[in-house]
Amino acid sequence: MRTFLQEKLASPAFIGEAASGKRAPLLHFMTLREREQFSWMDLLWLAFLAGLAILPPIEEIHKQFILLAIGVLQLLEGRLLAYFPTRGRYYAVFLKILLATLLIDHTGEVAITSSYYPIYYLPVVTAAIYFGPWGTLVWTAIASAAYCSYLYPAIQQYELTTSAITELTIRILFFFLAGVIVNRFAVENRRQTRRYQVLAEELEKTNRRLEQIQAEARRSERLAALGQLSAGLAHEIRNPLGVIKGSAEMLQQKLHDSNPLASELANYISSEVNRLSALVTRFLDFARPQHLETAMHSVADVVERALKAVAAQWTGPAIDVERKYESDVPPVPLDENFCEQVFINLAQNAYEAMTDGGILRVSIRGVEQDRVRGVEVQFSDTGPGVPEELREQIFNPFVTSKKSGVGLGLAIVSKIVDDHHGALRLEASSGQGACFSVFLPEAGSAAEPSPSRAVEISGE
Ligand SMILES: Nc1ncnc2c1ncn2[C@@H]1O[C@H](COP(=O)(O)OP(=O)(O)OP(=O)(O)O)[C@@H](O)[C@H]1O
Ligand SMILES: [Mg+2]
Repeated sequence: MRTFLQEKLASPAFIGEAASGKRAPLLHFMTLREREQFSWMDLLWLAFLAGLAILPPIEEIHKQFILLAIGVLQLLEGRLLAYFPTRGRYYAVFLKILLATLLIDHTGEVAITSSYYPIYYLPVVTAAIYFGPWGTLVWTAIASAAYCSYLYPAIQQYELTTSAITELTIRILFFFLAGVIVNRFAVENRRQTRRYQVLAEELEKTNRRLEQIQAEARRSERLAALGQLSAGLAHEIRNPLGVIKGSAEMLQQKLHDSNPLASELANYISSEVNRLSALVTRFLDFARPQHLETAMHSVADVVERALKAVAAQWTGPAIDVERKYESDVPPVPLDENFCEQVFINLAQNAYEAMTDGGILRVSIRGVEQDRVRGVEVQFSDTGPGVPEELREQIFNPFVTSKKSGVGLGLAIVSKIVDDHHGALRLEASSGQGACFSVFLPEAGSAAEPSPSRAVEISGE
């Protein structure tokens, strides 16, 4: 009986109730286990039915058919429940009551005196497993009523004695007793299953979060190592660049009239050196230790300034900006200038991604991430989105898919957000466009921002 119950309790329809249709890993585990036990249960059922079949009345063909039908129903019950997830359990109990009622009609001269009456335990126990306490009582009452329906033909022929009434009452009371006991056990098991399932889901969530944190840590390490190495290099490059630039300018002045071609070449040298110098300066801005000057600011104000700055210098196709700012977002501790740079870089990328124009949606809302309250800013565009193969790398320095890009924009964003103890995420692509979200913790929610990581990558 115990194995039978456990198998029922582990059935998909059953756990489905607890998981509201979701298939969690625990569910798979139980379904597999159920399948493993299936052959054992088959054998048990066959043995039980064969035992009943060889007991008198053996030549009653109806009895044998009914036993066969009970066996088939029992073996196919799992499929019935899977096929009719909500109504299946009603069908199963109802059919069992019907077959039990037919069976006792064919196994006794007077049906109500049939020794096969315990067959009613089958629908009663099934109801106890699939339904709550009230459902169990109702179904047991229906099974008892079906059994008692044979009272009518019996009293047409025989007298109903007190001892017969007592016997009948005892049998019916035992139906209820069995139903109640099994139901208690089933409800408790269901509760346990639900608890394990919630636990398994939480564990899975924690695992995912852990993987995400590990990925972020790897990214930070990569950035730090790369920053340290290249900042030193960039610093060394800047000095000779200054000398080249100065010399080219002098050359240009000297040769201005006497040799126009040489003067033009000197001009090229000077302008290219300017470009290189701007690049090196930008890189050093990224790699240099940052000393954040944090104060409480409204994130919306900083975002607005960034959007204005990007729109003002934009010369490409028309871009609409849709804003969705929650009104009661609290101020957070941030360095205005660095954070403005974060939002400028994200908005700039979105503008550049929408080569045929489009919509940039910016939202700001108060959220809680891993029990830390803060503000989340999302930049979502209608461009082509970030290709799958680039998703992991775009936060690394010098990863770019643009002809004139340097690939520092997101690396800078990532570093500044890190220094604010926030989180930067590229949301899973949901159709069109890319969506970046920046989370900035509220004051007191996390350790105060410190330039610790920036010190790690200092190169100057
Ligand atoms: N909104 C976006 N939509 C599609 N791809 C994006 C988006 N934002 C970033 N990317 C991808 O990520 C890459 C890296 O972006 P990042 O801002 O770091 O560098 P960049 O824009 O190429 O150069 P720059 O240093 O001038 O910012 C981009 O080249 C682009 O391929
Ligand atoms: Mg960029």
